[in-house]
Amino acid sequence: MAVDLGVVGLDVYVPTRRGYRRPYINLDNAASTPPLVAVARKVEEFLPWYASVHRGAGFKSRLATEIFEEARRIVVASFGFSPATNVAIFVKNATEALNKLAHRWPWEAGDIVISSLAEHHSNDLPWRKKARVLRLGLRPDGSLDLDHLASLLAAHAPRVKLVAITGASNVTGVLPDIHQAAILAHRYGAKIVVDAAQLAGHRPIFAFPDDDPRHLDFMALSGHKIYAPFGQGALIGPRSFFARGDPEYAGGGTVSFVTPESVAWALPPARDEAGTPNTIGAVAMAVALKTLQAADLSRLARREYGLTKRLYGGLARIPGVVLYGPPFPTVDRIGIVSFNLAGLPHGLVAAVLACDYAIGVRSGCFCAHPYVAWLLGTGGTTPPPGPERPGMVRVSLGLYNTEEDVDRLLHAIAEIAAESGYYRRCYEYEEGEGIWWPRGWRPEWGKWFRL
Ligand code: ALA
Repeated sequence: MAVDLGVVGLDVYVPTRRGYRRPYINLDNAASTPPLVAVARKVEEFLPWYASVHRGAGFKSRLATEIFEEARRIVVASFGFSPATNVAIFVKNATEALNKLAHRWPWEAGDIVISSLAEHHSNDLPWRKKARVLRLGLRPDGSLDLDHLASLLAAHAPRVKLVAITGASNVTGVLPDIHQAAILAHRYGAKIVVDAAQLAGHRPIFAFPDDDPRHLDFMALSGHKIYAPFGQGALIGPRSFFARGDPEYAGGGTVSFVTPESVAWALPPARDEAGTPNTIGAVAMAVALKTLQAADLSRLARREYGLTKRLYGGLARIPGVVLYGPPFPTVDRIGIVSFNLAGLPHGLVAAVLACDYAIGVRSGCFCAHPYVAWLLGTGGTTPPPGPERPGMVRVSLGLYNTEEDVDRLLHAIAEIAAESGYYRRCYEYEEGEGIWWPRGWRPEWGKWFRL
């Protein structure tokens, strides 16, 4: 049966500074993906059955509980984790998942986490609060240097407790060999956590059995990056890990019993899910994962490879474009390409794409200041926000983007490069909002959506 990979909102026209509407092209999928039609439909189908889970006695509560727990099993199984020994804790996104792991780890004085210079802040800042963080360095082309990981582990074992690396960079899309990193971590008695926020929507991930050296001990996920933007994320890891220690949030649902003086925590996953959970988000996440699997992520990745080649090659041919990260296709990456246009601030390029060409991208430092500063060669400190703050323009592909989308972007970038003086005059930096706008032009928001 053919899998419906339609996404919601592809046929939307938006206003432009030029005075006419254009079909919107979303090339900002690394930040957030639109919902799959299959996800939106299933959520709508579920809404009449929505009720409290693990709390109510009524039919709807019992049904909702069944569905919620089935969603959890689907999340665990989607990555090949053994359900007997591993559990998915539902959280709101990968950021919360990584913070939870940092909070729940039984740290001891002198413990070390090895992270990399290419991490999103969410896989960097939580560790800094709890342990000494050593940085796995980068090769000259901006990819992660696993030889350096081996030497850091050799020098600092057994104090290294955790290797925390991204599955795919949100800046350059590079794909570290997470299983090789797992082998190295395990060889030295450490565990690995993979920030799979970017990877999960682009490539199949297999966690391998618990006793396989390639096994991924922990994985963090965001629903809004896998076509299920309903506020759900997950932290997957060993049941035994979550069966000890205090949760960071205490409250309803986390206990087996409470007296005025004492508390006995519930078994996982309940211990780590305080308060009424996001059942709609769990439904959405499970359906997205099932749909992506049924569509075959390897096949989708091959298609994305072709589009990325077109995008990267096309940008490289435009005079004034500076590309970052390892050269593609020499080094594989998911469909993320970051660049600058000589002589124009990244925020201005992104604004012109938005307001003249109806193309949505992201610009800035992408919550990865150390990596962006390294790639730009601007040194250790990132200056405060302002019109000339260093950064990049990022184009990130989703499974629904087409060759036509890429060609429209390339055409727009070529025009912007050729007319940079004109666009500098037409746009101004708005200090309050911290973004560029066309002089004297704003969309009439109320015409587009009202609550
Ligand atoms: N982490 C998301 C991004 O890279 C928000 O845009």
